[in-house]
Amino acid sequence: MSADGKICSIDPKAPSDIDLVDFAHLEYQTSLADLILVGARTIRIHGENLIINNPELLAARKIRGQSPQPITCVVSRSLDLSPTLPFFSQEIERWIFTTQNSLQQNCDATSLSKKAELIALGDTDLDWDKGYSLMAERGISKVVALGGGSLTASLIEAKRIDDWWLTIWPLIFGGKDAPTPVEGEGFLPCDAPRMELIETRQVGNDVFLHYRTLK
Ligand SMILES: NC(=O)c1ccc[n+]([C@@H]2O[C@H](COP(=O)([O-])OP(=O)(O)OC[C@H]3O[C@@H](n4cnc5c(N)ncnc54)[C@H](OP(=O)(O)O)[C@@H]3O)[C@@H](O)[C@H]2O)c1
Repeated sequence: MSADGKICSIDPKAPSDIDLVDFAHLEYQTSLADLILVGARTIRIHGENLIINNPELLAARKIRGQSPQPITCVVSRSLDLSPTLPFFSQEIERWIFTTQNSLQQNCDATSLSKKAELIALGDTDLDWDKGYSLMAERGISKVVALGGGSLTASLIEAKRIDDWWLTIWPLIFGGKDAPTPVEGEGFLPCDAPRMELIETRQVGNDVFLHYRTLK
């Protein structure tokens, strides 16, 4: 996020320079995952998901017995995801977590099901306990959630975030409508999830903060 706490500018499609230091960190952290969770709005905006390209990280995945790329699981209630998005042509295994209601009401579900495995978790609301049980049954132990803020809020409410990596970029985005790391309804101070800071690192002008959620 920017130094003023925004995960993108008010125009999420505006071109921006890649922060190579942060990208290397993101690629490394993501390379550890069996499965990536990502919010549907992030996929609608960016069109595709991160692919691991670094040969050393790919070799390490092979040694650990992981597939070349983590599974990418998009979370979507609306199923408003065009099958023509580049994401659906990336060389990865794709899942979509949704609800039974969404599957029944969405006429695009059949065409999406040719591009990704559609998984209903609950009737009207997405049941994260079911989602995590299913992932465990399928041998997934390391899940990396890449955001955006709405998905992260949902995972925090479900108490499913153990570790939290935050990069502070040396810039200011501002804008009251620019998204922040955690959207949703928000938490009152008495209910705010607490974390302990277990690691800090500075590389150039970027600061990396690693927190662990206190249970
Ligand atoms: N800086 C970063 O590290 C970073 C990382 C990721 C994203 N971003 C930015 O974040 C912005 C998007 O964030 P966002 O908060 O607007 O959206 P988001 O979290 O990417 O996606 C929100 C969508 O995910 C689905 N969703 C999330 N939780 C759900 C639940 N519990 N049940 C059912 N569906 C659920 C819904 O999809 P449907 O609408 O399909 O129902 C919801 O509208 C983009 O601008 C992107 O660039 C930044």
